[in-house]
Amino acid sequence: HFAQIVRVPGDPILSLMEAYRLDSNPARLDLGVGVYKDAQSLTPIPRAVKLAEQRLIDVEQTKTYIGGHGDAAFGTLLSQLVLGADSALLAEQRAGATQTPGGTGALRLAGDFIRHCLPGRGIWLSDPTWPIHETLFAEAGLKVGHYPYVGADNRLDVEAMIAALTHLPKGDVVLLHACCHNPTGFDLTPRDWKRVLEVVKARELLPLIDFAYQGFGDGLEEDAWAVRLFAAELPELLITSSCSKNFGLYRERTGALIVCAGDAEKLVDIRSQLASIARNLWSTPPAHGAAVVAQILGDEELKALWLDELESMRLRVASLRRGLVEALAPHGLSERFAHIAEQRGMFSYTGLSPLQVQRLREEFSVYMVGSGRANVAGLDASRLDQLADAIARVCVN
Ligand code: LMR
Repeated sequence: HFAQIVRVPGDPILSLMEAYRLDSNPARLDLGVGVYKDAQSLTPIPRAVKLAEQRLIDVEQTKTYIGGHGDAAFGTLLSQLVLGADSALLAEQRAGATQTPGGTGALRLAGDFIRHCLPGRGIWLSDPTWPIHETLFAEAGLKVGHYPYVGADNRLDVEAMIAALTHLPKGDVVLLHACCHNPTGFDLTPRDWKRVLEVVKARELLPLIDFAYQGFGDGLEEDAWAVRLFAAELPELLITSSCSKNFGLYRERTGALIVCAGDAEKLVDIRSQLASIARNLWSTPPAHGAAVVAQILGDEELKALWLDELESMRLRVASLRRGLVEALAPHGLSERFAHIAEQRGMFSYTGLSPLQVQRLREEFSVYMVGSGRANVAGLDASRLDQLADAIARVCVN
């Protein structure tokens, strides 16, 4: 049976974790997978999460299945976090969350939903985008296309993006990154978003907004600005939300697909489809991470603590961005890499070539994704000079 099965290469991002683990150089630096690290190079469990988990141990009474849409309290609280506590959509019962195994699960559910319920629609991704977007939607059976996002000068090219969107087939799905664009870190301005919205309306596109980094860009509420604009202006919308980064729940696989529909009746129809599709994918979602999030968001004290912790992570990453540009200054490279301080979120599209990335890894034990994406959230202030030296060496020679 198995004789003809061939080996495929490891995941371009996750395999970096393994390669880093096997590197015995004490000066190794992991800027690969998108996880936040503290000054000790650890990915901490937020205190609010620990406290919520302690409470859960006391109050949890059963491990029986949660329903197809997951934890109802989690769904309500997360929808409020994404759409705003005062969202008219929520008041009108036009939006609902289906809990999924992480943001990736939400994307896959969205992909299967599109193939199943909106047959023939293609999906359009930014070039570049998170590599799993490419494979996941293709695996879900969708026709995948691209719109330009970054120009040859390694800067956001909004004009090219808008021009391409203007020519998309009517009714197709367009994937947009709400904030902290992965892999580039280049985000649209409010003015850009309004222009994109106009094209979406004119072409009757269905936006799928990937919202994996809420709270890592300009702030929890600020990062939701575009999502809320689209939710207010469009009758229909898909949003994938992840609690991996902002709650530090990575391995607990906690996320949701939030659907906004024209009316409450239609939402019920759509949710029946989602529950049926999810049943064939993972049956019912894992409970723990969602229960933790519901505990935190449903408790004023825990929520305040979490907001504080999230804000300090966000500010630390922003200061590392500035720090790296400063550390590059003595090498005469601060102008060339000035964009690192302007980008948002965990990632920076550095502009380093695949060859330079390879040299960084082989000669300096610095691990980043081959596209030149560096996870700035994996850095520490004490390592900035070391990184700047390594970058300078591969840039000069
Ligand atoms: C990343 O892009 O590094 C993160 O989204 C983690 C992942 O699953 O790839």
